[in-house]
Amino acid sequence: MGQYEKHVFVCTGGKVCPRQGSEQVLGELRVRIKEAGLAERVRINQSGCMSQCGWGPMVVVYPEDTWYGAVRLADVPDLISHLRGGAPIERLFHRPPGCGKQICPPGKEPIPPAPLSPPLSSPATPASPAAPRP
Ligand code: FES
Repeated sequence: MGQYEKHVFVCTGGKVCPRQGSEQVLGELRVRIKEAGLAERVRINQSGCMSQCGWGPMVVVYPEDTWYGAVRLADVPDLISHLRGGAPIERLFHRPPGCGKQICPPGKEPIPPAPLSPPLSSPATPASPAAPRP
């Protein structure tokens, strides 16, 4: 048995998942793990690209080798339930079409299912200029 019961990897080092909110998911997971008193048992780490770009944010849980795709902030409580020892969350399983398996091998990554949202760090739309004072 390793140092941790579960080890979670969140793709924040690739070029796509961070644009889909993976860093926010990572931060929320870390906060919720501490709140749940699981920080001694569950390790949350950043990872590089998992070659599933466009299907993220990608989150993988070991040792059971559960791959989650399109994880949103609202999904974090369910992930915590899994990490607490509950069943994996089937509705979040990464099942890209056309691969025949849960995970596409490198070089056969699927085309992203939807246009990417703009980077979260993009500047807000500038406000319209103030009306001239009389
Ligand atoms: S950027 Fe996350 S899987 Fe490639």
